[in-house]
Amino acid sequence: MCGITGYTGKSDAVARLLSGLRALEYRGYDSAGVAVMDAQGAVHVVKTKGRLRALEERLEKCPVHGRCGIGHTRWATHGAPSDVNAHPHGTDRLYVVHNGIIENDRELRAELSARGYNFLSETDTEAAACTIDSAYAETGDPVAALCAAAKRLRGSYALGVIFLDHPNEIYAVREGNPLIVAEGGDGCMIASDIPAVLRFARDCYVMEDGEIACVREDGAEFFDCQGKPISKRAAAIEWNMEAAERGGFAHFMLKEIHEEPLVARQTLGRYVKDGLPDLRGAFDNGCERLTIVACGTAMHAGLVGKWLIERIARVPVEVCIASEFRYNEPVLSPNHCVIAISQSGETADTLAAVRLAKSLGVRTVGVVNVPGSSVAREVDQALITCAGPEISVASTKAYAVQLLMMYLTAVQLGLGRGTLSMERARQIVSGLMALPAAMEEVIREDAQIRRMAACLDETENCFFIGRGLDYPGAMEGSLKLKEITYIHSEAYAAGELKHGAISLITRGMPVVALSTQAALKEKMLSNMREVASRGARVLLLATPETKELASDADETFVLPATDELLTPATAAVAMQLLAYYAAVRRGCDVDKPRNLAKSVTVE
Ligand code: M6R
Repeated sequence: MCGITGYTGKSDAVARLLSGLRALEYRGYDSAGVAVMDAQGAVHVVKTKGRLRALEERLEKCPVHGRCGIGHTRWATHGAPSDVNAHPHGTDRLYVVHNGIIENDRELRAELSARGYNFLSETDTEAAACTIDSAYAETGDPVAALCAAAKRLRGSYALGVIFLDHPNEIYAVREGNPLIVAEGGDGCMIASDIPAVLRFARDCYVMEDGEIACVREDGAEFFDCQGKPISKRAAAIEWNMEAAERGGFAHFMLKEIHEEPLVARQTLGRYVKDGLPDLRGAFDNGCERLTIVACGTAMHAGLVGKWLIERIARVPVEVCIASEFRYNEPVLSPNHCVIAISQSGETADTLAAVRLAKSLGVRTVGVVNVPGSSVAREVDQALITCAGPEISVASTKAYAVQLLMMYLTAVQLGLGRGTLSMERARQIVSGLMALPAAMEEVIREDAQIRRMAACLDETENCFFIGRGLDYPGAMEGSLKLKEITYIHSEAYAAGELKHGAISLITRGMPVVALSTQAALKEKMLSNMREVASRGARVLLLATPETKELASDADETFVLPATDELLTPATAAVAMQLLAYYAAVRRGCDVDKPRNLAKSVTVE
């Protein structure tokens, strides 16, 4: 949801801003821009509709130079992607880049227009810029102006601001959207996310809501929302540069799929001790009910988690789409625990769900990939997964480690509640330890998956079906496919299809059938035959135990042998590769699918 960055220091600001924006392009990519202050204090704005490449081309043709500037890569919310709506926006006193949504922008525009402000764009950001400008006109002090403006702005935002009469300073304020400040050898940066500063710094300050930063070449000062100075401690950045680069792969998505065995090992290394889960006491207080809140892929990990936790630990689990949670007046009791699952830890809906749960006095645990993110900081206990930076919009390796955390949670709770024997617990965990090798095997065998992907060349519609543990897996496979190939895809519990949706099956329509549960294979066989007899092409994901179903499928991929409980993890890798190869064959922009952004920081 938009990436913002800023640099002030001894080096060329444009190069620094572009490097930061390249690392943030996953957050939005419909337009981009920079505002750079030159040595004479004049500000040059260069911005354009389109990808970052378009901005780079524009800057090559009309270079600008300076040592201080702000930059932006946009995911449009107010106003279509266009040159004029691209950020930065400004007045004759200041320029602003913004991530988030100003909810009262109409009201502010009306008020500011009446006071003589002219608006050039359709963006809510311009309303924020003019609100700050008006406060600055009264106070003459950037921090006081930001404090005053923050009282007027409603919604969520992270703002980077340069004031023309405060050369070489960048001001930043955050409310509900992520923002970090990093001090490097030759200057300081602000950014929406860590990858933007990885080349530059080894630690960073994570700004909290309501805080203001004044960033200069030699360091940063922080203020609270009243303008009083506060001291902050920098946190070490755990990720390395290689993790945030493509490293010879055609796309980040493919690289990240290939990283799954490694990040699975790292996550297990962190949370398995002596062959058993060690979740750092996260569930030691005893919990009688669980609610999992998450969005998208993370929510699918939660659905797998529900299945596992209910089976293994006999704890009732509700999985709530985070955007629905707070409007559903959730019924939570004191012995409840809410688990938030999120790769970014910045998803606005998930964060709002965490805040609601906390306000109701319920214990919260976060399964989060980004250390220092809002969810990680706000939950009672954060379990940080070790996927490293996930750049591709389609979540792959983060999902893999979220699944592992669900297994470990189920086993830990099962042991604690006496519903699982120590022997079976050790067996499941030893199966988990063998999973990375099984994932490697799926990746090695991807030629077969490529053949399956060719079956998706001509189609505009597709179904994923599965039963039991395969149903949430099918939902994730379907999301991955539609997200990056634009094929309309639906996931169904295989037995439910005949209650309506089977009417959509037409000759040649691909149906991806997951059959990894031996006890359900005969039922799955019937469902496969039901669709095949109506002309569907069945693409089967099976295991050595269920591969006999292949005679009723058009294409089959057999997953490596694992404990049957663990097949969601290997099936996910196969379905991610299927979506990936289908998208490449269709010429789609795999890492940056249309209309999407990686981190959804608006509700
Ligand atoms: O950062 P989060 O895990 O909270 O993000 C949740 C969803 O936005 C995310 O999983 C989304 O569905 C992915 N693009 C799916 O690939």
